Amino acid sequence: MILAFVLTSNCEPASKELIIREVDGVPVFIEYGIPYFTRFQETSHYQIDLSGLWKFKIDPENQGEAERWFEQDFDDSDWFDHPVPGAWNIQKKEWLDYVGAGWYRKKFKVPEFIKGSFVRIVLDGVAFHSDLWLNGIYLTHHSGGFTRWSLDISPYLNYGDENILVIRVDTQRDYDTLPPLIKPSRPLGWWAYGGIHRQVIIESSPRTTLCKLAVDTDHQGKIQVKGVVYQSDNLPASAEIKVRLYEPDGSLKETLYKGILFIPAKGLKAFKFERILKGIKPWSPSHPENLYKLEVSIKSESGIETQAIKIGFRKFEFKGTELYFNGREYFLRGINRHEDNPITGPVQSEAVIKKDIALLKELRVNFVRTAHYPNDPNWLDACDRAGILVETEIPLYQVGWSFKSLRSAEKSRLYFNSARMLIEMIERDRNHPSVVMWAVGDECFSFFPSIRRLYRRLIEMAKRFDPERPVTFAIFVVPYGLTPFFEISAGLCDVIYVNQYLGWYFRTPEEVDQLLDKIHKKWPDKPVIVSEMGAGAVLGKKPGGKLYEVGYSNARDFSEEFQLKIYQVQLPIIKSKPFVVGIVPWVFADFRDDKRIHNPIPQMNLKGLLTYDRQKKQAFYLVSEFFAQIEKEYE
Ligand code: GCU
Repeated sequence: MILAFVLTSNCEPASKELIIREVDGVPVFIEYGIPYFTRFQETSHYQIDLSGLWKFKIDPENQGEAERWFEQDFDDSDWFDHPVPGAWNIQKKEWLDYVGAGWYRKKFKVPEFIKGSFVRIVLDGVAFHSDLWLNGIYLTHHSGGFTRWSLDISPYLNYGDENILVIRVDTQRDYDTLPPLIKPSRPLGWWAYGGIHRQVIIESSPRTTLCKLAVDTDHQGKIQVKGVVYQSDNLPASAEIKVRLYEPDGSLKETLYKGILFIPAKGLKAFKFERILKGIKPWSPSHPENLYKLEVSIKSESGIETQAIKIGFRKFEFKGTELYFNGREYFLRGINRHEDNPITGPVQSEAVIKKDIALLKELRVNFVRTAHYPNDPNWLDACDRAGILVETEIPLYQVGWSFKSLRSAEKSRLYFNSARMLIEMIERDRNHPSVVMWAVGDECFSFFPSIRRLYRRLIEMAKRFDPERPVTFAIFVVPYGLTPFFEISAGLCDVIYVNQYLGWYFRTPEEVDQLLDKIHKKWPDKPVIVSEMGAGAVLGKKPGGKLYEVGYSNARDFSEEFQLKIYQVQLPIIKSKPFVVGIVPWVFADFRDDKRIHNPIPQMNLKGLLTYDRQKKQAFYLVSEFFAQIEKEYE
């Protein structure tokens, strides 16, 4: 059965409501008047990559609009040449901790021959909020710096000629933005890098084009495909669809689907099918080479397009308090990781990704938590190829730690911004075999009903777009094992995600024993993952000497021995709990953290198993040996 929907004008301003169309039971997110587009790893579409030097100027006084910096012929010759992808914080010392607005201007040409096609601008990450002008015309506003979004710019381009794209970027936060402000004096908790820190491309496709491809599989060859075709034209169209599956070695395995669709003008039509395939090689951390290619080609009056994604046949599921992967009991050897390094800051260059993946492999991990925001899609591609499972999350971070922040949880705007980023994240990342779980927040004050309501609505939205994957959020631990007593929301999760720093911020490391038992007693039918644990250390620092305040009226010496002790004591205790299915230390590598002004290296979170420049601390070796033992048990 095929249902169609008709959409109205281009570049609609940012709506205040989430617009979701059900096309034959397939939810399609509508943003700026067009459907949200799946990210394809291969495409026949004509693309212009706008990476390179852009003109840049910070705007601390917010003069840019009044002085019309968006005008086509505005003279930006004395502006700074800023590399994109890039963050302004690492371009100049004086911009390192600049929070506010910055303007980017880019001249580019588009060829005449794409005139009449459907042309989008696709942005993968502009932090945190952006306003766009093209050739002096204001297009729209987008809030959220970590997910892909796109606009139909077909009507605004100078074809065969020069165009000027202007983006005003802003890193100021408010109580209802993501990441949210908790209170004016409270730092974020990582570095508020600002700028166009991921790729921007101009993409031209036929006016009849595939906008959504959602694929679910299991390790026994089941494949379920839902596709939605968009007709961007004012005329209806018919489209010939072909779906092919290629083996990991590149040879054609099978044509899975052939069909003809009739799409009304400005409309959407869905196709879907389900098959059980023979001779499938399951994807897993020990067999990441089993990546298949799923290709969809569409032939219509407006042209031919072929697009493809890499998929894996795998199954990740919780059963009672246990975790199963591809039908076998499994355990997550995890790590938290921020997108931050001393050379490119947040930018995930090929070299950064390659190096960090190699270090994850050395650490013997099979799971990474993208603390606390959707990561660069190229990182997820690398996790698919390396066989590292991923939990990816939205930066709904520590909401409720002030009265105003708690009030914002009641407000529609915070829900809107959270749900929109959640949908963008799911629709962008859902086809990755490495992505096994979504998280809708970290350490919000989930003792309160308003936070519980916010979480419940977000979990429902996640399940609407992806009924398959488990969903969770991380809870924090209060002293004296009272967490289970006050925690009223964690039961909404498919797995209890516990951030605990016993022995660092307060109490003793041994108390993790009772804490986990109490948590299990409160949620006896839920698996538990220790989603954060650890301690700060400076490479080579010996015990003793000056103590540094860490909060909760505690001070620590930041010696490697202290960090090591926390792991030596807690890892065996945590692993001994049959209901615990994963351990995820905080954190892969030290990172810039505006909260840590008292640390031995100020404004650096020093809980890394590696230093900022990726030197191994003693704890790295201990954790990797511990994980190697577990690996033998399960792989
Ligand atoms: C929290 C939080 C992290 C933070 C860490 C820490 O649990 O989720 O973002 O950096 O603890 O205290 O270092």
